[in-house]
Amino acid sequence: MRRNLPIIAIDGPSGAGKSTLGRMIARALGLLYIDTGAMYRAIALAVLRSRAKFTDTAAIAELARRARIELSGDPSSLRVMLDGEDVSDEIHSEQVSHVASLISAIPEVRREMVKQQRELGARGGVLVGRDIGTVVFPDADVKFFLTATPEERAQRRYEEDRARAQDLTFDDVLREINIRDERDSTRADSPLRIADDAVVIDTTELSIDEVFERMMKVIREKRAAG
Ligand code: DC
Repeated sequence: MRRNLPIIAIDGPSGAGKSTLGRMIARALGLLYIDTGAMYRAIALAVLRSRAKFTDTAAIAELARRARIELSGDPSSLRVMLDGEDVSDEIHSEQVSHVASLISAIPEVRREMVKQQRELGARGGVLVGRDIGTVVFPDADVKFFLTATPEERAQRRYEEDRARAQDLTFDDVLREINIRDERDSTRADSPLRIADDAVVIDTTELSIDEVFERMMKVIREKRAAG
């Protein structure tokens, strides 16, 4: 499908650099930046606040359908709103990360999020997540899969968490990354998987600017060829 504005899919595990690069690319190309992980996180926060049991999938699915999630602001200062309240900071706690990983395995929750993500991205954008190139927009104009070793991803997360004054050790972060990787890759519905036509970039040894340059080169080449 040809669109006026392209859809760029960026998938990969936690800490691979998806959000940072997604924001940079959205800004460089003047596209909407859609952080789909933030949407699962907002639902996780709604679940925590409702005190629904994590095993009560019907109640959680209902919360996902009812919650009003909005992404606003430009890519560098994206705000995430849940039912009109700015929850941008709260959704990055360890507890929310943990619950987001649990509830994102529920098929009804995924179905609702995928529906909303397709609406948000229909007119083009940079979508960052786990299943964008495989499920949400399998016909995306350009697909990337960013990855890095678990240790490098844990190190990045650890530094981010320290900046947010969260009280965790590197080993805690590495353990949580490994648990989430395992859960995100083995769930039955839309597991984290590399799309056949994705460009894979291992960011372990690369600076952000190097990854950005590589991605922009791929985008320019694809668009020139398309
Ligand atoms: O990218 P993140 O860490 O903010 O994502 C939070 C959780 O949501 C993570 O456990 C993976 C899940 N997720 C998903 O299943 N599908 C997406 N498209 C995005 C995130």
